Amino acid sequence: MKRIVCKKADIGRGPLILVNSANPLRNAGVSLIPLELTSQGGGESIYLERRAANLLTACIQAVGGQRDIVPVSGWRSRREQQQIWDDTLRSDGEEFTRKYVAPPDCSEHQTGLAIDLGRAAGRIDFIRPAFPYDGICGKFRRRAAAYGFIQRYEQGKEALTGIAAEPWHFRYVGAPHARLMQQNNLCLEEYVPFLRTGPKSCALTEGRLVQVFHAPCQGEETEIELPDQCGSVQVSGDNINGFIVTVWRDRI
Ligand code: DAL
Ligand code: ZN
Repeated sequence: MKRIVCKKADIGRGPLILVNSANPLRNAGVSLIPLELTSQGGGESIYLERRAANLLTACIQAVGGQRDIVPVSGWRSRREQQQIWDDTLRSDGEEFTRKYVAPPDCSEHQTGLAIDLGRAAGRIDFIRPAFPYDGICGKFRRRAAAYGFIQRYEQGKEALTGIAAEPWHFRYVGAPHARLMQQNNLCLEEYVPFLRTGPKSCALTEGRLVQVFHAPCQGEETEIELPDQCGSVQVSGDNINGFIVTVWRDRI
């Protein structure tokens, strides 16, 4: 039986961390790279976590959206999130701000795993960019889960996420998790409780079987037993109280 040991501090690290007002960011360090996509007005580079950046670019290229899909906002520093919060509060008031802007340290933009996308246009709203359900944007939506992205703030989930529906905000979680969340109509707030009910499995489009399970934190060090004959393994903190383990099996 193979075992791995996870440290308590790792609860706040990894592609599956839940970041919201009840679960602020614990660790800011993440490996960022600039997106190789033309941003709004061809302005400053937009950064994302390395894997999220590569897969977002691959998805946009796969749907032929390089000219029509524009990254609007990716990784933000705490300072930038504070600035956005303050500016929006001044310009649009508290009710609007709480609906569409997460308070500093409670924004998943600070993780480098979230991206706001807009449809190319003369003027793109920075807080609420238009990203429709049809045309090239619809095509991106249909492929996004295969590249590991979910629409993070869906209509009907506002009471759980604390944020209004945001059709433009996508979050990288990884393909098996995006698929499981989509199949079961779960937002990220619901996903960890769902995993706590027992191990889940999911068949990926390329024919690999993936097993996912939750391991609660057991103190400074948590020992996790892995299934026999597992291929690659990923452990991510949940930023709540434990770890989400993803095990890729051989082709089925
Ligand atoms: N617009 C999302 C909620 C953020 O500010 O992180
Ligand atoms: Zn966003």
